[in-house]
Amino acid sequence: MRPKLIVGNWKMYTLRASARDLAAAVVQRVGTPKVQVGVCPPSVWLTTVAEVVRGTPIALGAQNCHYEKEGAFTGEISPQMLLDAGCAYVILGHSERRHKLNESDAFIHRKVLAALQAGLKVILCLGETLDERKANQAKAVVDRQLSGCLAGVDANALANVVLAYEPVWAIGTGLMAEPADAQEMHAFIRGWIRGKYGEEAAVRLPIQYGGSVTPDKVAALFRQPDIDGGLIGGASLQAELFTAIVRIAEQAASPAA
Ligand code: PGA
Repeated sequence: MRPKLIVGNWKMYTLRASARDLAAAVVQRVGTPKVQVGVCPPSVWLTTVAEVVRGTPIALGAQNCHYEKEGAFTGEISPQMLLDAGCAYVILGHSERRHKLNESDAFIHRKVLAALQAGLKVILCLGETLDERKANQAKAVVDRQLSGCLAGVDANALANVVLAYEPVWAIGTGLMAEPADAQEMHAFIRGWIRGKYGEEAAVRLPIQYGGSVTPDKVAALFRQPDIDGGLIGGASLQAELFTAIVRIAEQAASPAA
């Protein structure tokens, strides 16, 4: 069975003390989880949070990176810097960056290749807007994002990729996708991976869901066969809610336990 992965995307929230406190509360409450758990604080707090999670099962991730190793890119952060700060993961292609900061598939693609090359695990976000869904374009959009962002990623490198299906209309809106609808898209994504990389890669690849995940709604979602955990925004800012989601994922991963 694929491991479930629960990652908190803190977005542009927390100050230094609240980031440290939140990380400490997550470490304390989550304990030794039966699923994989990560937190992605704002980049300015990565080293602060790294000190808190070091030596614990909680992995550290960043929310973005540049594709160059170093250079004249004011304000940017390279994959190598993230590794040095203690990151295992980087989120790339989040819809807020695609839509509010105009990041294209081509730009995200360069970052995906650079981050993988550097040795980071990439959480690559995919997802359609409400208009695209209404126009019956959801799968075409996700297909285009997959082809655009994974071009040139070989099967070995794919082992360090996690996909996160995050329908734009579900992010921060309280409108979590219906489990069956999300499952349909996850199965489509896995089929796409199967077509390009073969059965083994498709079976191995974790595909997270993201968008308004809260503990009260997520159990049915995590029981879907192609949903391998979640990328959690709002609820990851409260250690209690985030931990509750981790517990539900553990339950879904080993229902008999
Ligand atoms: P949300 O955000 O859980 O607040 O909807 C998810 C995300 O943007 O990754």
